[in-house]
This record gives sequence, C-alpha cells and structure tokens, in this order.
Amino acid sequence: MVKHGFNKELNKDYKLIIKAWPFDALMRKIQALEIRKFGGKYLIEFGCGSGEATKQIIKYNPKLRIFATDKDPHVIKNAKNSIKSKNATFQTIDAFKFKSAKKYDIVTSSHFIHNFVHKKQLILLKMMYNELNHNGLFIIVDKIWPDNPVLRKKYWQRMKNRFKIYDRHDRSDLRDAMLEHETIDRARVSVIIEAQFKDTLKKIGFKDIKIVIRKEQDVVLLAKK
Ligand SMILES: C[S@@+](CC[C@H](N)C(=O)[O-])C[C@H]1O[C@@H](n2cnc3c(N)ncnc32)[C@H](O)[C@@H]1O
Repeated sequence: MVKHGFNKELNKDYKLIIKAWPFDALMRKIQALEIRKFGGKYLIEFGCGSGEATKQIIKYNPKLRIFATDKDPHVIKNAKNSIKSKNATFQTIDAFKFKSAKKYDIVTSSHFIHNFVHKKQLILLKMMYNELNHNGLFIIVDKIWPDNPVLRKKYWQRMKNRFKIYDRHDRSDLRDAMLEHETIDRARVSVIIEAQFKDTLKKIGFKDIKIVIRKEQDVVLLAKK
C-alpha cells in the first residue's frame, strides 16, 4: 500500500466507520446490478478487502466466476471465512505484480484506486485494461470528485460533518483517523477528479466511459475495452 490508505486498524473498525458513509450500500448494489446487466462469465476484483463488494456481486450474479484478490493475506483470510460460494476464489495478490495468462470479461474494484498516487493509479488502470477481454467491462466504485470546485468543497464539508457520528460512539480517535485518511486522499497527488480521470481512461484505450450514479463524491463508473 502507499503511504496512505486503509490500514489494519481502520479495517477492524469497519462497521462503525461505515456509519458515516450513507451511500456505500447503494453504490455496491448498483455495481453488482450493472455487472448483472452486462453478463459475462469471469470477473476479477482487485483490492477486495474482506469482500464487502464481492458479497453483493455474488448475491446478484450467482453464476459468475469471481476471482477476488487483495495484497493483504489477513483480509483474504477473512473473506474466505465469511464468503462461502463455490463460484468465488480468493487469493493474496499484489495488483502491481499481477499478470494473468487468461483475460476476464469484467474487471472491478471498490474504494481501491483512490488510495494510490496518480502515477500508480495509471499503472493499475493500464493493468486492469490489459486483463480485460475485448468489449469487456471495467467497473469501479470509488471517490471521484466532481469537476466543479464549489461542489468539491461542499461535499468535503458534508463528509467531515458526518464524521461527528464517531464522537457519539466515544471514538474521537476514529474521527481523527478518518479525517487524516481522507485529507491524505484529497491530496493533489492522488485525488481523483472526474474530467481528468475520464481523460486518463480514454488515453489508455477505454471507451463508453460513463458514471452510472453519483452521490456526492461516491461514484459507480464503468467503461468498456
Ligand atoms: C479501502 S480498502 C477497500 C476494500 C474493499 N474493496 C471494499 O470496498 O470494502 C483497499 C484495499 O486495497 C488493498 N490493497 C492495497 N494495496 C494493494 C495492492 N498493491 N494490491 C492489491 N490490494 C491492495 C488493501 O489491502 C485493502 O484491502
């Protein structure tokens, strides 16, 4: 992982953390439904964590063959223990070192790409493109800030306000940690802004790039190879 991004402590507090993210469940559902709409047989997921997105994808796509990967062996172990599906396989894989002989119909990730600086994001996006079959689906849930700076400021303020919920659970430490985490994510070197991101995808070769849903900075974005 880069210098910023979720660490193990934050992963442990996931259930409480998620209370400040009102759109998370909706985003994951839309992601899974878009995958269903697309069809396809083989999906690979990068940075699956303990499998929050994976669960939804399985729920709405029971026949899809899912290869869920993450660099962290602990989260892979958790995912394996909590998700029992004969069509899902979990493996510890560093996305930056990944290269597969086969191609996939769908490549996906959630809350993954924004954790890296732009240079690394580009490496990941190119790798994800390469792993796709022609006409394959690239679909991500991520923090993609709108182009309008006034809206960006407004959504950032709302996010910070939502973190007050951690104080009500006597977890000001969590509020501080999340604030720090989000502040780092918004740094110039890593922040994802819609127009620039779409342009990067286009330059890589992606087509039909589209945001299917936006709730503040939370987005489901898809594209085809
Ligand atoms: C914010 S979590 C998102 C987890 C999950 N996708 C979700 O939506 O809840 C980011 C995940 O990326 C993983 N990760 C970080 N660097 C990675 C890398 N180089 N290759 C694969 N996974 C990585 C972390 O271990 C972590 O589980």
